[in-house]
Amino acid sequence: MKGLVLSGGSGTRLRPLTFTGAKQLIPVANKPIIFYGIEALVNAGVKEIGIVVGATAEEVNTVVGDGSRWGVSVTYIHQEAPLGLAHAIKISRDFLQDESFIMYLGDNILKNGIRDFVTQFQHDQPNALILLTEVTNPQDFGVAVIDESGAVKKLIEKPKEPPSNLALVGVYLFDQAIFTAIDHITPSWRNELEITDAIQWLLDNDCRVLSHRVKGWWKDTGKPDDIIEANLLVLEGINPCEKGTCIDTEVTGRIHTGKGSSIEKSIIRGPVIIGENTKIINSYIGPFSSIGDDAVIENSEIECSVIMQGARISNVQKRIDRSIVGKNVVIRVNDRSPRTHKFIIGDQSYLEIIR
Ligand code: DAU
Repeated sequence: MKGLVLSGGSGTRLRPLTFTGAKQLIPVANKPIIFYGIEALVNAGVKEIGIVVGATAEEVNTVVGDGSRWGVSVTYIHQEAPLGLAHAIKISRDFLQDESFIMYLGDNILKNGIRDFVTQFQHDQPNALILLTEVTNPQDFGVAVIDESGAVKKLIEKPKEPPSNLALVGVYLFDQAIFTAIDHITPSWRNELEITDAIQWLLDNDCRVLSHRVKGWWKDTGKPDDIIEANLLVLEGINPCEKGTCIDTEVTGRIHTGKGSSIEKSIIRGPVIIGENTKIINSYIGPFSSIGDDAVIENSEIECSVIMQGARISNVQKRIDRSIVGKNVVIRVNDRSPRTHKFIIGDQSYLEIIR
């Protein structure tokens, strides 16, 4: 089976982080989000992966490469604009040919991967197999209505009044019937070819659509709070691995430190991941924090946050909590006069200062 990973789109809900980069490349536990999807496909036995890319194609290509690091081949498929998930399948037809395939949305992370899901598809051979899970905010997702036997009856994309709390998770398995379905649908009110409409067409035309319930957590990393939550969930499962050096430092819980990193006179409470060549000096790094490569944290306190590569944080003694700090950002507290704040902050940034 082939895999199709969707990495186009504009990531507007993750601005300002997505002004300078693709949302699928934002790190969760120091790994680009899209890697979780690629690895799930590789673990399910997929050898050929197509990646649908848009405006951030070059960047995705640079980070993901040709797939050789996972022993698979990666083909890039260019989508001229984010015209919908079904549109992404339509333009990938040459790559997919007439084989069954797995579509994985590049901003989704599933704790337990997708192997069970693939096994069910191969065993039952439906035209489509969708993944469902109960959520408290179904209006933010595609929503499914199922009958007592679990058969899918209806799908609606982001309904204002959700008929159930069963959300569509961003992984789908299809056979070639989906191409016929996509040829019969028209763009929605937001001018997208919706995958929910295509699956609804399959339902309305006597095709077999089965569902599979997600076991373990699932995260769509569409908004900043989702990134913090996904980071927390992934760190909950990390294994300790210390390649860096710790001097005069109190460490409790599981920590993962990268090559060349050094931690001095600090307190680290895991689960925490610290990247390569990062320096932590006289600081507190609390649970569920990810600090990227080449960062410097000095005389500061951080908890439950994602601090990206090259960030420099110094003298921030009021704890930085549930925050996302982008690449090469500098945050420092100074004692100079006049005692004024100085900000150079990009569009749509969010800054909260406690008196
Ligand atoms: O995460 C699950 C949800 O994903 C489902 O419940 C919804 O039914 C489904 O429509 C989708 O909703 P989102 O609003 O989260 O989709 P988003 O626009 O964020 O796109 C998902 C991924 O696909 C993201 O990595 C960007 C990429 N994409 C999106 C579009 C619209 C493309 O590559 N091309 C596109 O045209």
